[in-house]
Amino acid sequence: MSYAVPLPQRGTFAAWRQAARIAISHRIPPDQLEWGGDGGLFAADPLPDAPGPHQIRVTEGFLKLAESVIWHSAPERFSLLYQALWRIDQRDGTPLSQADPLGRRLHLMAKGVSRDIHKMHAFVRFRELPSDTPRRSFAAWFEPEHNTMEPGAAFFAKRFGDMDWMIATPRLTAQFRAGALSFGPAGARPDLPEDASESLWATYFANIFNPARIKLDAMRSEMPLKYWKNLPETRLIPEMLKDAEARVQRMRDAGASVARPGSAPVSTRYRDAMPQAVALPDSLDQAKAAASQCRRCGLCEAATQTVWGAGAPDAVLMIVGEQPGDQEDLAGRPFVGPAGQALHQAMAAARVDPGKVWLTNAVKHFKFTPRGKMRMHQSPDRAEIEHCRWWLGLELGFIQPRLTLALGASAAFALTGDASPLGARRGKVQIGLHDGPVLLSWHPAYILRLPDPAAQARARQELIDDLRLAFALACAET
Ligand code: URA
Repeated sequence: MSYAVPLPQRGTFAAWRQAARIAISHRIPPDQLEWGGDGGLFAADPLPDAPGPHQIRVTEGFLKLAESVIWHSAPERFSLLYQALWRIDQRDGTPLSQADPLGRRLHLMAKGVSRDIHKMHAFVRFRELPSDTPRRSFAAWFEPEHNTMEPGAAFFAKRFGDMDWMIATPRLTAQFRAGALSFGPAGARPDLPEDASESLWATYFANIFNPARIKLDAMRSEMPLKYWKNLPETRLIPEMLKDAEARVQRMRDAGASVARPGSAPVSTRYRDAMPQAVALPDSLDQAKAAASQCRRCGLCEAATQTVWGAGAPDAVLMIVGEQPGDQEDLAGRPFVGPAGQALHQAMAAARVDPGKVWLTNAVKHFKFTPRGKMRMHQSPDRAEIEHCRWWLGLELGFIQPRLTLALGASAAFALTGDASPLGARRGKVQIGLHDGPVLLSWHPAYILRLPDPAAQARARQELIDDLRLAFALACAET
């Protein structure tokens, strides 16, 4: 006996869930179900209409996984989900666990779907169409890997609530008209006008850009650097990053990002206010050259020069200090003054190979107050650190260290965005804003300033321990 279970293109999850509930309630084993088919050449019966006597309760976890896997393009997704359901009911192992081959496969499928949705949100490109209503009208063609138009559409409805738009894919078309989202059959690739594309792409990108989620490494792995220069909108990234923290604050203050009734259409608001394009460095050397011209904050006015990082461009460990001091400012190299000497001694004690390290600072210009002939160190403020994070992000992106060691509170804030006191965090690893591991330690200048010799010896030993751990983690086989 076999049963054919046809499933619709839209509302697939609800239909699968209903059919699975009926099938399991009649205790129909997985090998008797033909999901998504009509039985073909073989005689297959439809499922019974009414549920059978056997009832099963499934967990939220299963439903959540199923709701994601269902959008995958693999034809066997329906039957795999039903196999998992069947095994849950039979108490046959743990079919949702990553340790189970079926569970692992389902989780991988769910991951693929979520990645595909993410890609759609990032890479859909709208073109403007003539509109006979007050709302501007846009269309896009997109080819997702999975059936992700339906689960991915709500994002666009929220972001572009004040426009009409259509996204056509080879399997389904999403339409947003006068605030209502609907789905239609697969579209042919539309013939979209080429004109105005640049500013529209830029408009779109400026809208989907969420500065609270800047992750340069992630951006690069999703959209490798080599493509950036060919995409019109990516030329805006440096400027948008520059303004990012201020935008995060504005977003926090503004609460939800749904457009207020009566506000200007988002496309109009951005049309004349697009940030100016800035060239994106293609290499570490280019980034260094660009940083030497940095005018992102006022610190460049009084400092002698930008102090870029130094060391091995293929370093496994990046060590980040606060900012250049008086001697570094004159020499143009990091960590050459008293704090630098203390750091190099600690590195030697910890047997850290300098040939595998990149040394740099959270802020690339010396901040000081003049006192007589002296220039007294002043810590950078948050805004200065945030402006300079652009350069640190480029260093991290090009060098790709296995681990980063943050020395002191400024470096810790630059790398993690977390400004809480260092005391409780020292010696621990946090995940940085770039998505990589960051170990936190004392700044050598702080150690040198400690008045109590015993406290100073203790802190120096802790720095050595942290350096040893950081280097071991950075060199460890994965
Ligand atoms: N202190 C730092 O944080 N960095 C240097 O380069 C020198 C002193």
